[in-house]
Amino acid sequence: MSSVKLQKTVDFIRRKVSIRPQVGVILGSGLGVLAAEVKNQQRLHYSELPHFPVSTVEGHEGQFIFGELSGKNVALMQGRFHFYEGYAMEQVVFPVRVMQKLGVRVLLVTNASGGINRDFSSGDLMLITDHLNLMGTNPLIGPNYDDIGPRFPDMSEAYDRELIRIAEEVARKNGLACRKGVYAGLTGPSYETPAEIRYLRTIGADAVGMSTVPEVIVANHAGIRVLGISCVTNMAAGVLPQRLSHAEVMETANRVRDQFITLVKGVLDEVNPE
Ligand code: HPA
Repeated sequence: MSSVKLQKTVDFIRRKVSIRPQVGVILGSGLGVLAAEVKNQQRLHYSELPHFPVSTVEGHEGQFIFGELSGKNVALMQGRFHFYEGYAMEQVVFPVRVMQKLGVRVLLVTNASGGINRDFSSGDLMLITDHLNLMGTNPLIGPNYDDIGPRFPDMSEAYDRELIRIAEEVARKNGLACRKGVYAGLTGPSYETPAEIRYLRTIGADAVGMSTVPEVIVANHAGIRVLGISCVTNMAAGVLPQRLSHAEVMETANRVRDQFITLVKGVLDEVNPE
């Protein structure tokens, strides 16, 4: 990562946008609807931003939305960059670096996932308690930026316990059923085989997806507190006698959108972004 490039992107956003975000939100597949809830919006398409990659996958709109959500100043990413699209890890995590420089101290990361835990059902929301990095690489490989964080960052509380507690409380108050579990991040883009899902279950995964892990590693390195919310959009391969499709992922994400919005807004209400 070039810090000159990063600074250029950050300066560009500061010139265009008056909001100073405290909380970052990354919206996963089919979860972009939350963008409509943001007040006093200022939008910047990724294509307008210097040094920003452009997202390609259906269901990922590709813009930053700055504004107020539940009384907090937010930078909301409608669309993220996936490793499977062919981006370098550096590009996948670039927006997190930008958000950090803009002042973000808390990051809400959301995604769609396949349910591995047999107690789960399609449409469940899962608070991510921990992850398995099975992407075969790490976004921090390369020179360390000592001004951002240490060479060997601690990952023993990658997903902030206090934020999980707040999210559980919000879910309880609003009568939302909410699961907790470990997210396994694989590169994709092929879905897993049933044998891979049995393996992932054995090593402790509750859900599987193709994102989130790189962003969370970089956020932890930078001292940003993370809450991860996964929408279990389908049961993983081989769990049910049916095939997987991106259409099912999008349909389910759409079906649970009201619960998802309630949860995220409720968390933002309660969170202290210092
Ligand atoms: N596997 C991997 N990624 C996913 C899945 C899945 O079953 N569902 C949504 N994203």
